[in-house]
Amino acid sequence: MPNYLIAPSILSANFAKLGEEVVNVIDAGADIIHFDVMDNHYVPNLTIGPLVCEAIRPLTKAPIDVHLMVKPVDRIIPDFAKAGANIISFHPEASEHIDRTIGLIKDQGCKAGLVFNPATPLNYLDHVIEKLDLVLIMSVNPGFGGQKFIPEALNKIRTVRRMIDEKGLDIMLEIDGGVKVDNIQEVARAGADTFVAGSAIYNTPDYRATISQMRAELAKA
Ligand code: DX5
Ligand code: ZN
Repeated sequence: MPNYLIAPSILSANFAKLGEEVVNVIDAGADIIHFDVMDNHYVPNLTIGPLVCEAIRPLTKAPIDVHLMVKPVDRIIPDFAKAGANIISFHPEASEHIDRTIGLIKDQGCKAGLVFNPATPLNYLDHVIEKLDLVLIMSVNPGFGGQKFIPEALNKIRTVRRMIDEKGLDIMLEIDGGVKVDNIQEVARAGADTFVAGSAIYNTPDYRATISQMRAELAKA
């Protein structure tokens, strides 16, 4: 069984007690904190920035997985690295020079990820896949939590899984959007190993129970 990682998106947490929400979800068995950054420009919503990342950094040893939905993207990358991000991912449409942005993230000592919207072609991977630590496939259009899973994302996951395996690369394959107890097994079967879930975890009363149910589904994948 692959090393499956569960990455709750704090976008659906209660922001009035964000620190507690981070600690509780990790105590409940999650592996990674998924940190959604939206700028009201690249996506039609506005969320949290490096100051919030810095504030939660001391609360957990779990990796912080920063998903940048901002354009332009380069200027903010060093700020997130300094704020303690472990993984920084960006959308190819938000960078003028994708290879340079990947280099910038790695120069800051972070893992680099490239994110694909539902309509973004995978050929952005062609010349850079070897440099990536993570590929993130969006199964919703970015901007909001609580949207419905777009099933076409499964084919993309299968394609990227094949590319990673054929080249023998060590790359995390993450899915983001509409992941729930009901569909996590199918997404794992398609080849994902890292699962972002916002509303499916934070909108339930017992995070431990929900994460355990997800792990039970993954064990059957
Ligand atoms: C959407 C964000 C997601 C979102 C996931 O733009 O990137 O991380 O918070 O939320 P759910 O799991 O509720 O679809
Ligand atoms: Zn995200």
